[in-house]
Amino acid sequence: MSPRSWYLVYGIFLHVIWSGAAKVEFYSSVDSMQDLAQVEQELLNATRSYLETQQQQLNFYRRYVDQIKREHEWAVGQLKLDEYLGHPLHAFRLIKRLVQDWDALIFEPILTNQPREDFRQFSDVLTRDLGYPDQSELQGAIKGLARLQRVYNLSTSDLAGGVINGFSYDSELQWRECYEIGAQLFDLGEYQRSLEWLQVAHVLLRNLEDEKDKTHYLSDIREYAAMANFELGNTKRAGRLLNQILKPEPTHTAQQTRKYLENHEPGKKIQEKNPSWYGNYTRLCQGKRLPEESSGSPLKCYLDGKRHAYFTLAPLQVEPVHLDPDISVYHGMLNSQQILSIFEEADKEEMVRSAVAGEGGKRTVRDLRVSQQTWLDYTTPIMESVSRIIQFVSGFDMAGAEHMQVANYGVGGQYEPHPDYFEVNLPSQFEGDRISTSMFYLSDVEQGGYTVFTKLNVFLPPVKGALVMWHNLHRSLDVDVRTLHAGCPVIVGSKRIGNIWMHSGYQEFRRPCNLTSDSYKSAAYRKSV
Ligand SMILES: *[C@@H]1O[C@H](CO)[C@@H](O)[C@H](O)[C@H]1NC(C)=O
Ligand SMILES: *[C@@H]1O[C@H](CO)[C@@H](O)[C@H](O)[C@H]1NC(C)=O
Ligand SMILES: *[C@@H]1O[C@H](CO)[C@@H](O)[C@H](O)[C@H]1NC(C)=O
Ligand SMILES: *[C@@H]1O[C@H](CO)[C@@H](O)[C@H](O)[C@H]1NC(C)=O
Repeated sequence: MSPRSWYLVYGIFLHVIWSGAAKVEFYSSVDSMQDLAQVEQELLNATRSYLETQQQQLNFYRRYVDQIKREHEWAVGQLKLDEYLGHPLHAFRLIKRLVQDWDALIFEPILTNQPREDFRQFSDVLTRDLGYPDQSELQGAIKGLARLQRVYNLSTSDLAGGVINGFSYDSELQWRECYEIGAQLFDLGEYQRSLEWLQVAHVLLRNLEDEKDKTHYLSDIREYAAMANFELGNTKRAGRLLNQILKPEPTHTAQQTRKYLENHEPGKKIQEKNPSWYGNYTRLCQGKRLPEESSGSPLKCYLDGKRHAYFTLAPLQVEPVHLDPDISVYHGMLNSQQILSIFEEADKEEMVRSAVAGEGGKRTVRDLRVSQQTWLDYTTPIMESVSRIIQFVSGFDMAGAEHMQVANYGVGGQYEPHPDYFEVNLPSQFEGDRISTSMFYLSDVEQGGYTVFTKLNVFLPPVKGALVMWHNLHRSLDVDVRTLHAGCPVIVGSKRIGNIWMHSGYQEFRRPCNLTSDSYKSAAYRKSV
């Protein structure tokens, strides 16, 4: 195998690993959500055309029936029925109608109902081949909402009202939707959050004037709320809620629920302990830094025209955000046109892969679950430019670079704290571990989606066109555990990034290691992992 084809195999291998690690759902990629919108468009079309053909058929039946009825009325109006039927042509027509016409024009089409048959086939194709989202997908979306609430401390009533972090979006939820979220969160064991959504649903429904089956649904919501309260240890409140249902409607199923609750212990609250990084993670995701003891000179932005001749005319705009380990943001590295070209390359890749994955070259929605990340090599003009930028900014030899990974995160899409180095089980296709990470922000994100370093008190809002670069290894080439970082959930918008990981193998002369090991710097942080 040539090195190039190894590259390819490795790319696909990594692709599988990482897409597994990132746990992406439809919900967490705007690209795959767009495909779902397409599915709904097709549903809309199919349903509309079903209704139209069905309507045409009904109109035809009605006309036929009217015509026969007119003929009968005419016959009776003119003559007596027996005289009418005494006429040979009249008798012939009646017999023909009964033997042929009713059957061909009415019985047959009504019983086979071709439009309905077409619709059934369409729905089979939709669910079987296109990967229609299922219940677990809905749960994923609801978990995504709950995750946003947790990480960003968003109140349920605000979220239901379409208010996110103080910004009002014109899209409040209906009581049914809030009820669904509450019920699903109950099933997921998130009782407190479930209760909040049920309360919002209850208020919304109660305030509706003439909703069908209002009392019935109010009781259903109360029953869920009673169970959630019970699980939370509020047995008295649970009992009160059930009484509210049973007083006006003693036969309601809440009867059984009450029996069940009377014979069971309240659920033991298994308070899931948050991992140790969680506090730092949420704080930084919300854009809050801890005050730091001043370390003399604060970090200042500067222009750097000396790093490489390439930057003489257009100096690098460097924003150092951390000194040791060094993390810097380089602004304005890619313009919108270049970013568009990268997406075009990524789309081409995606199509090639989907054609391999999908049967008969057909693009399917399920495939897109893994197509949210694409790998680009450096052979096209745009990727040659990207390669030059990385080389000139980092000083590294691109021989050690993996292909660029282009990834897309949608609402709730996140990546929990992780290091970029391997430390163990290094991939054999590359020399050495991942010495550095270069991450391009390929989009602005309306809300959320920060990159945070949980051990370093650093958060970075995505800025389109900027490049973030840091070293994952000490000069000694030992791993630098302080580089643990995360991608915060996207609240509103779509986050696109391009990652290039550089391996240490070819870089002996680019970043010489120190004779005295500097890996001791990581020691104190290891304990707090
Ligand atoms: C739906 O129908 C419209 C016109 O009837 C057509 O232009 C459009 O392409 C159709 N969309 C899909 C997804 O089939
Ligand atoms: C979350 O928000 C509420 C107000 O909505 C506030 O009272 C509370 O202190 C916040 N919690 C955290 C951890 O920020
Ligand atoms: C949280 O952040 C502080 C300040 O940056 C740091 O000292 C501490 O080690 C971090 N804790 C964890 C568990 O990462
Ligand atoms: C090598 O390590 C020593 C001791 O930690 C330090 O003083 C020196 O600046 C380092 N040299 C380089 C090139 O980083």
